[in-house]
Amino acid sequence: MSGKKNEDRKSGTSVAKSESLQVPQCFFLVVIVGGGAAGVNIARPLSAELDAAQYNLVLVNPLPYRVVLPATLRMTVSDVDNLATTALIPYDKIFHGGKGTFIEDSVESIHQKAGETTGFLTLGSGEQLPYDILILAPGLSWQDPIAFPNKAEDVKAYVASSREKFAGAKSYLLVGGGAVGCELAGELKDIWPEKDVAIVHAKPLLFNDTYPDKFRKAMARGLTARGIKLHLGDVVENHVITGSTDVVTRAGLKLSADLILKTTGASHPNTAFIKSLDADVLTPAGFVKVKPTLQLFNYPNIFAAGDAIEWKEQKQALKCYAHAKIITKNVASYNKGAPLKNYTTGFEAIIVTNGKRGGASYFDVLWGILLGAWFTTMAKSKSLLVPLFRKESGYV
Ligand SMILES: Cc1cc2nc3c(=O)[nH]c(=O)nc-3n(C[C@H](O)[C@H](O)[C@H](O)COP(=O)(O)OP(=O)(O)OC[C@H]3O[C@@H](n4cnc5c(N)ncnc54)[C@H](O)[C@@H]3O)c2cc1C
Ligand SMILES: *[C@@H]1O[C@H](CO)[C@@H](O)[C@H](O)[C@H]1NC(C)=O
Ligand SMILES: *[C@@H]1O[C@H](CO)[C@@H](O)[C@H](O)[C@H]1NC(C)=O
Repeated sequence: MSGKKNEDRKSGTSVAKSESLQVPQCFFLVVIVGGGAAGVNIARPLSAELDAAQYNLVLVNPLPYRVVLPATLRMTVSDVDNLATTALIPYDKIFHGGKGTFIEDSVESIHQKAGETTGFLTLGSGEQLPYDILILAPGLSWQDPIAFPNKAEDVKAYVASSREKFAGAKSYLLVGGGAVGCELAGELKDIWPEKDVAIVHAKPLLFNDTYPDKFRKAMARGLTARGIKLHLGDVVENHVITGSTDVVTRAGLKLSADLILKTTGASHPNTAFIKSLDADVLTPAGFVKVKPTLQLFNYPNIFAAGDAIEWKEQKQALKCYAHAKIITKNVASYNKGAPLKNYTTGFEAIIVTNGKRGGASYFDVLWGILLGAWFTTMAKSKSLLVPLFRKESGYV
Protein backbone atom coordinates (compact mmCIF):
# COMPACT_ATOMS: atom_id res chain seq x y z
CA MET A 1 0.00 0.00 0.00
CA SER A 2 1.40 3.40 -0.88
CA GLY A 3 0.76 6.62 0.95
CA LYS A 4 0.62 10.24 -0.01
CA LYS A 5 3.07 12.35 1.92
CA ASN A 6 1.91 15.18 4.03
CA GLU A 7 3.12 17.74 1.50
CA ASP A 8 -0.03 16.93 -0.48
CA ARG A 9 -2.32 18.00 2.27
CA LYS A 10 -4.17 21.19 1.52
CA SER A 11 -5.08 22.22 5.02
CA GLY A 12 -2.02 20.82 6.75
CA THR A 13 -1.75 22.14 10.27
CA SER A 14 1.42 21.51 12.15
CA VAL A 15 0.72 21.67 15.84
CA ALA A 16 2.53 18.94 17.73
CA LYS A 17 3.15 21.02 20.83
CA SER A 18 2.49 18.95 23.90
CA GLU A 19 4.19 15.72 24.91
CA SER A 20 1.12 13.70 23.96
CA LEU A 21 0.98 15.08 20.45
CA GLN A 22 4.43 14.11 19.24
CA VAL A 23 3.04 12.71 16.02
CA PRO A 24 5.65 12.89 13.26
CA GLN A 25 4.43 15.46 10.75
CA CYS A 26 5.87 14.04 7.53
CA PHE A 27 3.44 11.12 7.53
CA PHE A 28 0.04 10.44 6.12
CA LEU A 29 -2.13 10.65 9.23
CA VAL A 30 -4.97 8.24 9.98
CA VAL A 31 -6.87 9.26 13.12
CA ILE A 32 -9.44 7.08 14.89
CA VAL A 33 -11.80 8.74 17.37
CA GLY A 34 -13.06 6.33 20.04
CA GLY A 35 -11.51 3.08 21.24
CA GLY A 36 -14.56 0.86 21.73
CA ALA A 37 -15.66 -2.24 19.83
CA ALA A 38 -15.35 -0.43 16.50
CA GLY A 39 -12.24 1.70 17.14
CA VAL A 40 -10.19 -1.16 18.62
CA ASN A 41 -11.03 -3.48 15.75
CA ILE A 42 -9.98 -0.85 13.24
CA ALA A 43 -6.84 0.35 15.05
CA ARG A 44 -5.26 -3.05 15.56
CA PRO A 45 -5.58 -4.46 12.02
CA LEU A 46 -4.67 -1.09 10.48
CA SER A 47 -1.49 -0.97 12.58
CA ALA A 48 -0.51 -4.32 11.04
CA GLU A 49 -1.38 -3.31 7.50
CA LEU A 50 -0.21 0.25 7.14
CA ASP A 51 3.43 0.82 6.27
CA ALA A 52 4.88 2.58 9.30
CA ALA A 53 7.41 4.34 7.07
CA GLN A 54 4.60 6.24 5.40
CA TYR A 55 1.65 6.28 7.77
CA ASN A 56 1.00 7.37 11.27
CA LEU A 57 -1.95 5.90 13.03
CA VAL A 58 -3.48 7.72 16.00
CA LEU A 59 -6.22 6.58 18.39
CA VAL A 60 -7.93 9.18 20.59
CA ASN A 61 -10.04 8.08 23.57
CA PRO A 62 -10.81 9.90 26.84
CA LEU A 63 -9.94 6.94 29.08
CA PRO A 64 -6.60 5.08 28.76
CA TYR A 65 -8.48 1.78 28.47
CA ARG A 66 -11.44 0.27 26.68
CA VAL A 67 -14.50 -0.12 28.88
CA VAL A 68 -15.94 -3.53 27.97
CA LEU A 69 -19.62 -2.56 27.88
CA PRO A 70 -21.12 -6.06 28.20
CA ALA A 71 -19.18 -6.46 31.48
CA THR A 72 -20.17 -3.13 33.03
CA LEU A 73 -23.40 -4.21 34.74
CA ARG A 74 -21.70 -7.04 36.64
CA MET A 75 -18.75 -4.73 37.34
CA THR A 76 -20.88 -1.97 38.86
CA VAL A 77 -23.08 -4.33 40.93
CA SER A 78 -20.26 -6.02 42.87
CA ASP A 79 -16.58 -6.97 42.85
CA VAL A 80 -17.29 -10.51 41.66
CA ASP A 81 -14.57 -11.70 39.23
CA ASN A 82 -12.64 -8.47 39.71
CA LEU A 83 -13.98 -7.03 36.46
CA ALA A 84 -12.76 -3.52 37.27
CA THR A 85 -9.31 -4.97 36.60
CA THR A 86 -9.91 -7.27 33.63
CA ALA A 87 -12.70 -5.47 31.77
CA LEU A 88 -10.96 -2.09 31.59
CA ILE A 89 -8.44 -3.00 28.92
CA PRO A 90 -5.48 -0.63 28.41
CA TYR A 91 -4.49 0.50 24.92
CA ASP A 92 -0.78 -0.05 25.53
CA LYS A 93 -0.66 -3.17 23.34
CA ILE A 94 -3.22 -2.09 20.79
CA PHE A 95 -0.84 -1.31 17.90
CA HIS A 96 1.07 -4.17 16.29
CA GLY A 97 4.78 -3.54 16.77
CA GLY A 98 3.95 -0.29 18.54
CA LYS A 99 3.08 1.25 15.16
CA GLY A 100 0.67 3.90 16.34
CA THR A 101 0.12 6.65 18.89
CA PHE A 102 -2.52 6.67 21.61
CA ILE A 103 -3.80 10.02 22.84
CA GLU A 104 -5.82 10.15 26.08
CA ASP A 105 -8.25 12.96 25.32
CA SER A 106 -11.67 13.80 23.85
CA VAL A 107 -12.20 15.31 20.45
CA GLU A 108 -14.19 18.52 20.78
CA SER A 109 -14.53 19.60 17.18
CA ILE A 110 -13.69 18.75 13.59
CA HIS A 111 -12.46 21.29 11.05
CA GLN A 112 -12.58 20.46 7.38
CA LYS A 113 -14.01 22.59 4.62
CA ALA A 114 -16.31 21.01 2.06
CA GLY A 115 -14.28 20.00 -0.98
CA GLU A 116 -11.06 19.59 0.98
CA THR A 117 -9.61 16.17 1.69
CA THR A 118 -7.78 16.84 4.95
CA GLY A 119 -8.61 18.60 8.18
CA PHE A 120 -7.81 18.85 11.86
CA LEU A 121 -9.39 18.07 15.21
CA THR A 122 -9.47 20.20 18.33
CA LEU A 123 -8.96 18.14 21.47
CA GLY A 124 -10.13 18.79 25.03
CA SER A 125 -6.58 19.88 25.88
CA GLY A 126 -6.93 22.68 23.31
CA GLU A 127 -4.35 21.07 21.03
CA GLN A 128 -5.03 20.54 17.36
CA LEU A 129 -4.49 17.22 15.63
CA PRO A 130 -4.35 17.10 11.84
CA TYR A 131 -5.62 14.15 9.83
CA ASP A 132 -5.68 12.91 6.27
CA ILE A 133 -8.16 10.15 7.03
CA LEU A 134 -10.54 10.37 9.96
CA ILE A 135 -12.48 7.43 11.40
CA LEU A 136 -15.30 8.30 13.80
CA ALA A 137 -16.32 5.61 16.33
CA PRO A 138 -17.58 7.48 19.41
CA GLY A 139 -20.42 5.11 20.42
CA LEU A 140 -23.39 5.99 22.63
CA SER A 141 -23.94 7.55 26.05
CA TRP A 142 -25.34 5.14 28.61
CA GLN A 143 -27.33 5.81 31.77
CA ASP A 144 -26.41 5.12 35.36
CA PRO A 145 -25.09 2.61 36.54
CA ILE A 146 -23.03 2.39 33.35
CA ALA A 147 -22.57 6.11 32.67
CA PHE A 148 -18.80 5.90 33.01
CA PRO A 149 -16.96 9.18 33.67
CA ASN A 150 -14.61 10.50 31.00
CA LYS A 151 -11.66 11.01 33.37
CA ALA A 152 -9.58 8.04 34.46
CA GLU A 153 -9.21 9.42 38.00
CA ASP A 154 -13.01 9.37 38.48
CA VAL A 155 -13.67 5.81 37.32
CA LYS A 156 -12.65 4.00 40.52
CA ALA A 157 -14.92 6.19 42.64
CA TYR A 158 -17.81 5.78 40.18
CA VAL A 159 -17.59 1.99 40.33
CA ALA A 160 -17.21 2.00 44.12
CA SER A 161 -20.19 4.29 44.71
CA SER A 162 -22.33 2.25 42.37
CA ARG A 163 -21.49 -0.98 44.22
CA GLU A 164 -22.28 0.73 47.52
CA LYS A 165 -25.61 1.94 46.23
CA PHE A 166 -26.61 -1.57 45.13
CA ALA A 167 -25.35 -3.19 48.33
CA GLY A 168 -27.20 -0.65 50.48
CA ALA A 169 -30.61 -1.32 48.93
CA LYS A 170 -32.81 -4.28 49.90
CA SER A 171 -35.10 -4.10 46.89
CA TYR A 172 -34.81 -2.88 43.32
CA LEU A 173 -37.25 -1.70 40.69
CA LEU A 174 -35.90 -1.51 37.15
CA VAL A 175 -37.84 0.59 34.68
CA GLY A 176 -37.23 -0.87 31.22
CA GLY A 177 -37.12 -4.54 30.28
CA GLY A 178 -34.72 -4.62 27.35
CA ALA A 179 -31.17 -5.96 27.42
CA VAL A 180 -29.97 -3.62 30.19
CA GLY A 181 -32.94 -4.20 32.53
CA CYS A 182 -32.92 -7.98 32.08
CA GLU A 183 -29.16 -8.35 32.47
CA LEU A 184 -29.03 -6.06 35.51
CA ALA A 185 -31.85 -8.02 37.18
CA GLY A 186 -29.89 -11.24 36.68
CA GLU A 187 -26.71 -9.74 38.15
CA LEU A 188 -28.57 -8.50 41.23
CA LYS A 189 -30.13 -11.94 41.83
CA ASP A 190 -26.69 -13.58 41.49
CA ILE A 191 -25.31 -11.52 44.37
CA TRP A 192 -28.46 -11.13 46.48
CA PRO A 193 -30.87 -14.02 45.75
CA GLU A 194 -32.99 -13.02 48.75
CA LYS A 195 -33.61 -9.41 47.70
CA ASP A 196 -36.67 -8.34 45.67
CA VAL A 197 -36.01 -7.43 42.05
CA ALA A 198 -38.80 -6.23 39.76
CA ILE A 199 -38.96 -4.94 36.19
CA VAL A 200 -41.62 -2.66 34.72
CA HIS A 201 -41.80 -2.78 30.93
CA ALA A 202 -44.16 -0.95 28.59
CA LYS A 203 -44.57 -3.72 26.03
CA PRO A 204 -46.67 -6.85 26.67
CA LEU A 205 -43.48 -8.94 26.43
CA LEU A 206 -39.88 -8.13 27.38
CA PHE A 207 -37.75 -6.39 24.66
CA ASN A 208 -39.62 -5.22 21.54
CA ASP A 209 -40.83 -6.83 18.37
CA THR A 210 -37.39 -6.71 16.77
CA TYR A 211 -37.16 -10.19 18.29
CA PRO A 212 -39.73 -13.02 18.05
CA ASP A 213 -42.11 -13.86 20.88
CA LYS A 214 -40.41 -17.19 21.58
CA PHE A 215 -37.20 -15.37 22.57
CA ARG A 216 -39.07 -12.73 24.58
CA LYS A 217 -41.02 -15.40 26.46
CA ALA A 218 -37.92 -17.50 27.10
CA MET A 219 -36.23 -14.48 28.70
CA ALA A 220 -39.31 -13.89 30.89
CA ARG A 221 -39.41 -17.54 32.00
CA GLY A 222 -35.74 -17.44 32.99
CA LEU A 223 -36.16 -14.28 35.04
CA THR A 224 -39.39 -15.27 36.81
CA ALA A 225 -37.86 -18.66 37.66
CA ARG A 226 -35.36 -16.73 39.78
CA GLY A 227 -38.08 -14.77 41.55
CA ILE A 228 -37.75 -11.58 39.48
CA LYS A 229 -41.17 -9.93 39.25
CA LEU A 230 -42.26 -8.69 35.84
CA HIS A 231 -44.85 -5.94 35.40
CA LEU A 232 -45.40 -6.04 31.65
CA GLY A 233 -47.55 -3.67 29.62
CA ASP A 234 -47.19 -0.94 32.21
CA VAL A 235 -45.22 2.30 32.44
CA VAL A 236 -43.48 4.35 35.13
CA GLU A 237 -43.28 7.94 33.91
CA ASN A 238 -39.76 9.27 33.50
CA HIS A 239 -40.05 12.23 35.83
CA VAL A 240 -40.96 10.12 38.87
CA ILE A 241 -38.05 7.69 38.62
CA THR A 242 -34.95 9.47 39.89
CA GLY A 243 -34.53 9.54 43.64
CA SER A 244 -37.92 8.10 44.50
CA THR A 245 -38.71 4.87 46.36
CA ASP A 246 -42.46 4.78 45.69
CA VAL A 247 -44.11 5.15 42.31
CA VAL A 248 -47.55 4.71 40.85
CA THR A 249 -47.55 3.17 37.39
CA ARG A 250 -49.71 4.37 34.54
CA ALA A 251 -52.07 1.46 35.23
CA GLY A 252 -52.38 2.60 38.86
CA LEU A 253 -50.13 -0.01 40.43
CA LYS A 254 -48.26 1.18 43.56
CA LEU A 255 -44.67 -0.08 43.55
CA SER A 256 -41.91 0.63 46.02
CA ALA A 257 -38.22 -0.26 46.18
CA ASP A 258 -35.14 1.07 47.95
CA LEU A 259 -33.58 1.69 44.58
CA ILE A 260 -35.54 2.61 41.44
CA LEU A 261 -33.45 2.76 38.28
CA LYS A 262 -34.14 3.65 34.68
CA THR A 263 -32.88 0.78 32.54
CA THR A 264 -33.98 1.85 29.10
CA GLY A 265 -30.54 1.56 27.54
CA ALA A 266 -28.50 4.20 25.75
CA SER A 267 -29.57 7.84 25.85
CA HIS A 268 -27.89 9.36 22.78
CA PRO A 269 -24.93 9.01 20.41
CA ASN A 270 -21.69 10.81 21.42
CA THR A 271 -21.70 12.93 18.30
CA ALA A 272 -22.17 16.53 19.46
CA PHE A 273 -18.54 17.24 18.48
CA ILE A 274 -19.26 16.23 14.88
CA LYS A 275 -21.69 19.12 14.31
CA SER A 276 -18.71 21.45 13.97
CA LEU A 277 -17.93 19.72 10.68
CA ASP A 278 -21.35 20.35 9.20
CA ALA A 279 -24.74 19.96 10.94
CA ASP A 280 -26.05 18.00 7.95
CA VAL A 281 -23.83 15.01 8.62
CA LEU A 282 -26.04 13.96 11.57
CA THR A 283 -29.66 12.76 11.70
CA PRO A 284 -32.05 14.65 14.02
CA ALA A 285 -31.37 11.99 16.68
CA GLY A 286 -27.61 12.60 16.31
CA PHE A 287 -26.54 9.50 14.39
CA VAL A 288 -23.87 9.88 11.70
CA LYS A 289 -25.24 9.50 8.19
CA VAL A 290 -23.02 7.20 6.14
CA LYS A 291 -22.82 5.87 2.62
CA PRO A 292 -22.74 2.06 2.24
CA THR A 293 -18.94 2.42 2.06
CA LEU A 294 -19.18 3.85 5.63
CA GLN A 295 -17.85 7.18 4.32
CA LEU A 296 -19.61 10.40 5.22
CA PHE A 297 -21.55 12.06 2.42
CA ASN A 298 -19.40 14.85 0.91
CA TYR A 299 -16.36 13.97 3.02
CA PRO A 300 -14.74 10.97 1.31
CA ASN A 301 -11.76 10.93 3.71
CA ILE A 302 -14.01 10.60 6.79
CA PHE A 303 -15.44 7.22 7.78
CA ALA A 304 -17.75 6.28 10.66
CA ALA A 305 -18.45 3.00 12.42
CA GLY A 306 -20.11 1.41 15.41
CA ASP A 307 -23.16 2.31 17.46
CA ALA A 308 -23.04 5.98 16.39
CA ILE A 309 -23.88 5.41 12.71
CA GLU A 310 -27.34 5.62 11.20
CA TRP A 311 -27.98 2.14 9.82
CA LYS A 312 -31.00 -0.09 9.98
CA GLU A 313 -29.74 -2.79 12.33
CA GLN A 314 -29.52 -3.46 16.07
CA LYS A 315 -26.51 -1.72 17.62
CA GLN A 316 -24.07 -4.42 18.71
CA ALA A 317 -20.38 -5.20 19.00
CA LEU A 318 -21.07 -7.96 16.49
CA LYS A 319 -21.96 -5.31 13.93
CA CYS A 320 -18.89 -3.27 14.85
CA TYR A 321 -16.63 -6.11 13.70
CA ALA A 322 -18.25 -6.06 10.30
CA HIS A 323 -18.00 -2.24 10.10
CA ALA A 324 -14.35 -2.47 11.11
CA LYS A 325 -13.54 -5.01 8.39
CA ILE A 326 -15.08 -2.83 5.70
CA ILE A 327 -13.35 0.32 6.93
CA THR A 328 -9.95 -1.36 7.21
CA LYS A 329 -10.26 -2.44 3.57
CA ASN A 330 -11.73 0.85 2.40
CA VAL A 331 -9.00 2.99 3.96
CA ALA A 332 -6.47 1.06 1.89
CA SER A 333 -8.60 1.32 -1.26
CA TYR A 334 -9.18 5.03 -0.74
CA ASN A 335 -5.43 5.64 -0.57
CA LYS A 336 -4.88 3.66 -3.75
CA GLY A 337 -7.80 5.25 -5.56
CA ALA A 338 -9.37 1.78 -5.88
CA PRO A 339 -13.16 1.22 -5.64
CA LEU A 340 -14.53 0.90 -2.10
CA LYS A 341 -16.63 -1.94 -0.68
CA ASN A 342 -20.19 -1.59 0.57
CA TYR A 343 -21.35 -2.66 4.00
CA THR A 344 -24.44 -4.83 4.39
CA THR A 345 -25.82 -6.17 7.66
CA GLY A 346 -25.37 -9.92 8.08
CA PHE A 347 -28.05 -11.44 10.28
CA GLU A 348 -29.49 -10.30 13.58
CA ALA A 349 -28.59 -12.21 16.73
CA ILE A 350 -28.91 -11.47 20.41
CA ILE A 351 -27.35 -13.04 23.47
CA VAL A 352 -28.78 -11.91 26.82
CA THR A 353 -27.50 -13.05 30.20
CA ASN A 354 -29.48 -13.89 33.30
CA GLY A 355 -26.62 -13.76 35.78
CA LYS A 356 -23.54 -15.93 35.39
CA ARG A 357 -25.38 -19.16 34.70
CA GLY A 358 -28.44 -18.27 32.65
CA GLY A 359 -29.93 -16.35 29.77
CA ALA A 360 -31.31 -16.84 26.28
CA SER A 361 -29.99 -16.33 22.76
CA TYR A 362 -31.65 -15.91 19.42
CA PHE A 363 -30.18 -16.15 15.92
CA ASP A 364 -32.26 -14.90 13.04
CA VAL A 365 -31.08 -17.58 10.59
CA LEU A 366 -32.99 -20.47 9.01
CA TRP A 367 -36.31 -20.68 10.89
CA GLY A 368 -34.96 -18.56 13.76
CA ILE A 369 -32.87 -20.39 16.32
CA LEU A 370 -33.50 -19.99 20.03
CA LEU A 371 -30.83 -21.25 22.42
CA GLY A 372 -31.08 -21.51 26.17
CA ALA A 373 -29.09 -21.14 29.36
CA TRP A 374 -26.32 -23.61 28.56
CA PHE A 375 -25.34 -22.03 25.25
CA THR A 376 -25.80 -18.50 26.58
CA THR A 377 -23.65 -19.21 29.62
CA MET A 378 -20.81 -20.55 27.48
CA ALA A 379 -21.11 -17.79 24.87
CA LYS A 380 -21.48 -14.85 27.21
CA SER A 381 -22.86 -15.10 30.76
CA LYS A 382 -19.83 -16.75 32.34
CA SER A 383 -17.10 -14.39 31.15
CA LEU A 384 -19.04 -11.53 29.50
CA LEU A 385 -16.79 -11.68 26.43
CA VAL A 386 -13.88 -10.24 28.41
CA PRO A 387 -11.25 -12.79 27.21
CA LEU A 388 -12.26 -12.18 23.59
CA PHE A 389 -12.11 -8.41 23.98
CA ARG A 390 -8.74 -8.58 25.73
CA LYS A 391 -7.36 -10.42 22.71
CA GLU A 392 -8.69 -7.69 20.43
CA SER A 393 -6.56 -5.20 22.34
CA GLY A 394 -3.42 -7.32 22.07
CA TYR A 395 -3.66 -9.06 25.46
CA VAL A 396 -3.16 -12.80 24.96
C1 LIG B 1 -24.88 -4.04 29.10
C2 LIG B 1 -24.49 -4.21 27.65
C3 LIG B 1 -24.39 -5.49 27.12
C4 LIG B 1 -24.03 -5.66 25.78
N1 LIG B 1 -23.94 -6.93 25.28
C5 LIG B 1 -23.57 -7.13 23.99
C6 LIG B 1 -23.44 -8.45 23.44
O1 LIG B 1 -23.65 -9.44 24.11
N2 LIG B 1 -23.08 -8.57 22.14
C7 LIG B 1 -22.85 -7.50 21.35
O2 LIG B 1 -22.54 -7.69 20.18
N3 LIG B 1 -22.97 -6.23 21.83
C8 LIG B 1 -23.34 -6.03 23.13
N4 LIG B 1 -23.46 -4.74 23.62
C9 LIG B 1 -23.30 -3.61 22.70
C10 LIG B 1 -21.85 -3.27 22.45
O3 LIG B 1 -21.19 -3.08 23.66
C11 LIG B 1 -21.79 -2.01 21.58
O4 LIG B 1 -22.49 -2.24 20.40
C12 LIG B 1 -20.37 -1.63 21.22
O5 LIG B 1 -19.60 -1.41 22.37
C13 LIG B 1 -20.34 -0.39 20.34
O6 LIG B 1 -19.03 -0.10 20.01
P1 LIG B 1 -18.57 1.37 19.56
O7 LIG B 1 -17.11 1.25 19.28
O8 LIG B 1 -19.47 1.89 18.53
O9 LIG B 1 -18.82 2.26 20.84
P2 LIG B 1 -18.21 2.13 22.34
O10 LIG B 1 -17.82 0.72 22.63
O11 LIG B 1 -19.22 2.78 23.18
O12 LIG B 1 -16.89 2.98 22.25
C14 LIG B 1 -16.90 4.34 21.93
C15 LIG B 1 -15.64 4.99 22.51
O13 LIG B 1 -15.52 6.30 21.97
C16 LIG B 1 -15.14 7.18 23.01
N5 LIG B 1 -15.55 8.55 22.66
C17 LIG B 1 -16.78 9.08 22.69
N6 LIG B 1 -16.75 10.39 22.33
C18 LIG B 1 -15.45 10.67 22.06
C19 LIG B 1 -14.78 11.86 21.67
N7 LIG B 1 -15.44 13.00 21.47
N8 LIG B 1 -13.44 11.82 21.51
C20 LIG B 1 -12.77 10.66 21.72
N9 LIG B 1 -13.36 9.52 22.10
C21 LIG B 1 -14.68 9.52 22.28
C22 LIG B 1 -15.88 6.63 24.22
O14 LIG B 1 -15.32 7.12 25.41
C23 LIG B 1 -15.70 5.13 24.03
O15 LIG B 1 -14.50 4.68 24.59
C24 LIG B 1 -23.80 -4.54 24.97
C25 LIG B 1 -23.89 -3.25 25.52
C26 LIG B 1 -24.22 -3.07 26.85
C27 LIG B 1 -24.31 -1.70 27.42
C1 LIG C 1 -36.32 -2.19 19.76
O1 LIG C 1 -35.28 -1.99 20.69
C2 LIG C 1 -34.02 -1.73 20.13
C3 LIG C 1 -33.02 -1.62 21.24
O2 LIG C 1 -32.92 -2.85 21.90
C4 LIG C 1 -34.08 -0.46 19.28
O3 LIG C 1 -32.85 -0.25 18.65
C5 LIG C 1 -35.17 -0.57 18.26
O4 LIG C 1 -35.33 0.64 17.57
C6 LIG C 1 -36.49 -0.97 18.88
N1 LIG C 1 -37.44 -1.27 17.82
C7 LIG C 1 -38.72 -0.93 17.86
C8 LIG C 1 -39.54 -1.43 16.72
O5 LIG C 1 -39.19 -0.26 18.76
C1 LIG D 1 -22.57 0.40 -3.26
O1 LIG D 1 -23.78 1.07 -2.97
C2 LIG D 1 -24.00 2.17 -3.84
C3 LIG D 1 -25.19 2.96 -3.29
O2 LIG D 1 -26.23 2.11 -2.91
C4 LIG D 1 -24.22 1.65 -5.25
O3 LIG D 1 -24.46 2.70 -6.12
C5 LIG D 1 -22.95 0.90 -5.66
O4 LIG D 1 -23.13 0.30 -6.90
C6 LIG D 1 -22.61 -0.18 -4.66
N1 LIG D 1 -21.30 -0.73 -4.97
C7 LIG D 1 -21.04 -2.03 -4.97
C8 LIG D 1 -19.63 -2.41 -5.25
O5 LIG D 1 -21.90 -2.87 -4.74
